[in-house]
Amino acid sequence: MAKFKFRINRFDPDRKDRGHYMQEYELEVPKGYTVLDCLNDIKWKIDGTLTYRRSCRSGICGSCAMTINGVNNLACESQVYALGGDTINVEPLRGYPVIKDLVISLDPLVKGLLAVKPFMITRTPPPSDQERLQSPEDRDKLEGLYECILCGSCTSSCPSFWADKEYIGPHAFLKAYRFVADSRDESPREHLAALDDKHGVWRCHTIFNCVEACPKSLNPTKAISELKKEIVRQKLG
Ligand code: FES
Repeated sequence: MAKFKFRINRFDPDRKDRGHYMQEYELEVPKGYTVLDCLNDIKWKIDGTLTYRRSCRSGICGSCAMTINGVNNLACESQVYALGGDTINVEPLRGYPVIKDLVISLDPLVKGLLAVKPFMITRTPPPSDQERLQSPEDRDKLEGLYECILCGSCTSSCPSFWADKEYIGPHAFLKAYRFVADSRDESPREHLAALDDKHGVWRCHTIFNCVEACPKSLNPTKAISELKKEIVRQKLG
């Protein structure tokens, strides 16, 4: 057990005179605690007004993504003792509108996602007695594409998104490529339509921030380069 200082972004939309400020809390932290465990302790034992999102506590739902010591990560997967130092800064993900304290608006994330039609598009009727099948080789092509938990860490870390709030974002590009690369999808063009645009893949400058930020170790930059190739391929017929 050791004492840690948490400096946490506070913002109350009903107190616009105060704006954003950092509030400090001191906490005795048992070994093995994550940042989410500490936020829960602060909320439940010290300050019930502290507001943040969380749900699964298992790195699956993506709700608890936030900026911890300047790095985007999941609070439920960030071990306090592994962060180094005895002061931990916790802020909302950058680039998104803040609703309260650590809670961001997910509207830009959802808007980008919907633009790429994030579902399998088919034209032919499914086989009557079984689901749509694909070979093990084709299924392997989806590795590293389907695991995104839509936490928003990648898009929050992207300077193109900071500069252009209409930028569709790496989270949506990765999702688009997950369906473009799926052998069962019968209309890749529909996923690509929104991407060949000034707010689409061409605004990516391949700086890899999204790769560094992804808590699931996925590679949106690679997916973006594959999407660029696919768009050019389709243009050339
Ligand atoms: S609470 Fe679900 S990913 Fe952290």
